[in-house]
Amino acid sequence: MTRVLGIETSCDETAAAVVDDRFHVHSSVIESSIDQHRAFGGVVPELAGRAHLVTIGPVVRAALLEADLDPLAPDVAGIAVTSGPGLIGSLLVGLSAAKAFSLAWGVPFVGVNHLEGHLFAPLLEQSDLDWPLMTLLVSGGHSLIVLQRGAGRHEVLGETIDDAAGEAYDKVARWLGLGYPGGPEIDRLAQGGSASRLKLPVSMVGDDYDLSFSGLKTAVVRASEKHRDVALEDVAASFQAAVAEQLLRKLRQALEHHHVAGVALAGGVAANSALRAGVQRLADEFGFACHLPSLAMCTDNAAMIAAAGVYRLGHDGPSPLDLSANPNWQLADVR
Ligand code: KG4
Ligand code: ZN
Repeated sequence: MTRVLGIETSCDETAAAVVDDRFHVHSSVIESSIDQHRAFGGVVPELAGRAHLVTIGPVVRAALLEADLDPLAPDVAGIAVTSGPGLIGSLLVGLSAAKAFSLAWGVPFVGVNHLEGHLFAPLLEQSDLDWPLMTLLVSGGHSLIVLQRGAGRHEVLGETIDDAAGEAYDKVARWLGLGYPGGPEIDRLAQGGSASRLKLPVSMVGDDYDLSFSGLKTAVVRASEKHRDVALEDVAASFQAAVAEQLLRKLRQALEHHHVAGVALAGGVAANSALRAGVQRLADEFGFACHLPSLAMCTDNAAMIAAAGVYRLGHDGPSPLDLSANPNWQLADVR
């Protein structure tokens, strides 16, 4: 059994985890700086970078100890680190730490794409799942529909042309005067509201797989300005239903046109109750396996980065020591 240490610092979570080549998670430690960002209504890159600097050492140490490894000379076969996409100052903290540990321990390291990491999350909860998978990857920074032919083999069918789904949640929440991040709060309010109170457009009704949330965000703001008597719960429910409808409509189209064995949700917005229920309904209707990650696996963590690293180290080998962080690294198709 070989173990890989994963390190994730692309946004506001400093995370480290130990995962083995059977995708068994030995430890997963996450320290978030979110409390420092709340007052600003979003992640402040400079604060996130500084927080990573303070926490990276203790978080890696805690992950090694939790996995029963010697924190000074751990028995790991390699180190996987998110090298993009993300905030440049934050990525550099994790990447520099990974390079330093790699030199100090004499083990290889590999730079991993954060989005590919999210695609490995279902494997951490069911390592023998059947391929191909149709995966809806929705987070604060990204929204994609991905056809996964196998571990590490993926094709992006469509993605957002403007805001990410989570970003739309966060922006609408800010406009409604709710806290940051807005997704969980809108989701909670929506449970007690009526989705038919506000008439909202369903964007992107074409037959491609691209997504868009910017128009919907503006429509919510306009509609709730016009109808000031509508309760906050109803605004939340109407917005949530429109987001879910667009995502599920595109997912259905993708499932109708591609042969798959299962459907999966990934990314922070995979915690959303309407989306989870809708994806489960779609899977039941099509008779596919449905992979809904636990909340811990939806949001950013280092176990998914370590899992992608197990695969990348095996297939592509280690990265060179002069690897740079790539804040705009797009997920390339791997067939
Ligand atoms: O994947 P993630 O932890 O970080 C990024 O890589 O972006 O996703 C965070 C995003 C935030 O935009 C947050 O508002 C959203 O996920 N989110 C939700 C819910 N929980 C978190 N959006 C909708 N409903 C939720 N229950
Ligand atoms: Zn993420």
